[in-house]
Amino acid sequence: MKVTHLAAISVLLFTSTPSLVTASGNNFTRRCGRLIQTFKNANTTVLLSTYVTKGTNVTYPDSDPTCQSSVIAMADVCRLRLNVTTSSSSNVIMEVWMPTNWADTNKRFAMTSDGGVSGCIDLDDLTFTTTLGFSTVGHNNGHDGTDSLAFLNKPEVIKDFSYRAVQVATKVGKTATNFFYQDTLNKSYYWGCSGAGRSGMKAAQSFPEEFDGIIAGDPASEFHRVVAGGLSYWYHMGNTTAPTWLNFDQWTAINAEVLAQCDTLDGVKDNVLEDPFQCKPRFDAMLCSDGETWAKDKCLTAVQVAAVEKIYSPVYGDKGRFIFPAVQPGNDQVFGFYLVYGSPDEIATHYLKYGFYNDANWQLPSTLDGFLPVMDDLLDRDPYGVSANNPDLSKLRSLGHKLLVYHGGSDGFYTPQNTIDQYENVSKNMTLRSSQLDEFFRFFMIPGMNHCTGGNGAWYMGGPGQVGMGVTGVNANDSLIMQMVKWVEEGKAPETIRGYAIGASGGAEGAVRDHCKWPAKNHYKGGNANDASSWECKLNSLYN
Ligand SMILES: *[C@@H]1O[C@H](CO)[C@@H](O)[C@H](O)[C@H]1NC(C)=O
Ligand SMILES: *[C@@H]1O[C@H](CO)[C@@H](O)[C@H](O)[C@H]1NC(C)=O
Ligand SMILES: *[C@@H]1O[C@H](CO)[C@@H](O)[C@H](O)[C@H]1NC(C)=O
Ligand SMILES: *[C@@H]1O[C@H](CO)[C@@H](O)[C@H](O)[C@H]1NC(C)=O
Ligand SMILES: *[C@@H]1O[C@H](CO)[C@@H](O)[C@H](O)[C@H]1NC(C)=O
Ligand SMILES: *[C@@H]1O[C@H](CO)[C@@H](O)[C@H](O)[C@H]1NC(C)=O
Ligand SMILES: *[C@@H]1O[C@H](CO)[C@@H](O)[C@H](O)[C@H]1NC(C)=O
Ligand SMILES: *[C@@H]1O[C@H](CO)[C@@H](O)[C@H](O)[C@H]1NC(C)=O
Ligand SMILES: *[C@@H]1O[C@H](CO)[C@@H](O)[C@H](O)[C@H]1NC(C)=O
Repeated sequence: MKVTHLAAISVLLFTSTPSLVTASGNNFTRRCGRLIQTFKNANTTVLLSTYVTKGTNVTYPDSDPTCQSSVIAMADVCRLRLNVTTSSSSNVIMEVWMPTNWADTNKRFAMTSDGGVSGCIDLDDLTFTTTLGFSTVGHNNGHDGTDSLAFLNKPEVIKDFSYRAVQVATKVGKTATNFFYQDTLNKSYYWGCSGAGRSGMKAAQSFPEEFDGIIAGDPASEFHRVVAGGLSYWYHMGNTTAPTWLNFDQWTAINAEVLAQCDTLDGVKDNVLEDPFQCKPRFDAMLCSDGETWAKDKCLTAVQVAAVEKIYSPVYGDKGRFIFPAVQPGNDQVFGFYLVYGSPDEIATHYLKYGFYNDANWQLPSTLDGFLPVMDDLLDRDPYGVSANNPDLSKLRSLGHKLLVYHGGSDGFYTPQNTIDQYENVSKNMTLRSSQLDEFFRFFMIPGMNHCTGGNGAWYMGGPGQVGMGVTGVNANDSLIMQMVKWVEEGKAPETIRGYAIGASGGAEGAVRDHCKWPAKNHYKGGNANDASSWECKLNSLYN
């Protein structure tokens, strides 16, 4: 009995008939374990290959302390861990998780990535994507840990972060997938948010041949501009003893004032601005009169109000050079991220020190005037192409591949205005109107969504960076990547993106909204504002 079984396996191993590798047939477990010996690829070392069953706690005891160190596997998969050399002084660590039902779910491949300057495998996106049958890759972007320290004296590591880790890990992941299943994958997808959205834009611009469909959420495409713009806020607000500085409660009061002035512009009082750009808040409304104080009257000094106005204005550099769009009104995130600490943002400062200037002794200038040349440098030089702002998507278009971009309307890390600008840049560069861009590039604003996740609006879409948050009650089959699958494989392009407000218990409750394709905006028609059917997408942007 045993001999027959082994003979059957060896026959199966050396045949190329498609779809042989299933959980029960052609022993998946055994083949997976053997990959450490059998999988050979240029520049690639197999570190581990092991079968993992759904529900297993997969741990990473040696991972950098800033990275997530465990995840519960959500599907039965073959887990393959690889070390791929990208140059004589750089390498990417990647994992390919190959689920048992791959052949039954149209042989799809997916690439994930992580945000910021992160060198961590996005374990949540990785495991979630395998539940939908995709053979999925996660990777460390070419360095370990969420900081830029690894960039010092390592230009090739910056190049990996810029684009090469994604490109190389995609190619190797596809080769491993085809090898393991003894088959040819059919369609390839990318999905990521924030820094991983930047990587998605980079792929769309520079190597669109790798992906039939790319989803880029809240893309930090203008990475150099946001480093310059984000750090400029620090000079306006100062440290915690500066007269300009505001504490968390004061920023919360500012946000409440913005909502008081603008929340009902869209016809519904729900703590969400459907179109934040229509809100022109007047911060003078918070000024203290003679003798009034914050402690007693919850008002602000003129110096504080002037500083707040600067935060809500576009950032200009030396000689009025445009640096970064204004923070949009109606977000309660910007102060949490950049402003209340009374110290400059560390992600940005470390990128300048260890990456951009490659000088561990570099110090952030102490004055805004001193910082102006740094802004110029950031805009003038980008040797590794970290910013993903090439407006020419003609290669993607000619391949028939698709790009879906979305951005949270209350994103306080990275204003959606920048993504609108990017969309309009593409439109102008390619001389295509929105209706023509729709063929291959669609952009959706998600009002009330913070940076990739959370917010007061209907933000849950089953998107990258959202799927590990324990949200219940929304079918995984409705997640964003499956909408891209419908576009790519069935030609059904998304007209709207459905989002769900998430309650404290993690369940979908309250508003359900079909978010509009840019440049349309949602208009309230009347009825229960929580129902998607009470709203309609219209091209005219002004509310009455
Ligand atoms: C597959 O191989 C593993 C490990 O050798 C063994 O434990 C398992 O019983 C086999 N499964 C089948 C379905 O043959
Ligand atoms: C998985 O294991 C790690 C390390 O032992 C532990 O810290 C973590 O809590 C575990 N996860 C779950 C969900 O049990
Ligand atoms: C990966 O390979 C590089 C050589 O490219 C080597 O320096 C590094 O130690 C390897 N890492 C692991 C985890 O094996
Ligand atoms: C292997 O890596 C080197 C750089 O280290 C590169 O020049 C070469 O093209 C790579 N080979 C393959 C097959 O990717
Ligand atoms: C804080 O700012 C004040 C003035 O704005 C300055 O005098 C003081 O030196 C600063 N303190 C630190 C620790 O930077
Ligand atoms: C839009 O195009 C302008 C002009 O080429 C460029 O300076 C800017 O960086 C682009 N913005 C975005 C968001 O891509
Ligand atoms: C479009 O962008 C590309 C890449 O930046 C540039 O080379 C080209 O000149 C631009 N075309 C137009 C019409 O602006
Ligand atoms: C998702 O779709 C697949 C294929 O149609 C189906 O087998 C599965 O049951 C669905 N999952 C859920 C949670 O509905
Ligand atoms: C690949 O996917 C397309 C679209 O779903 C489908 O029509 C085609 O049959 C698939 N091809 C293979 C070889 O599985």
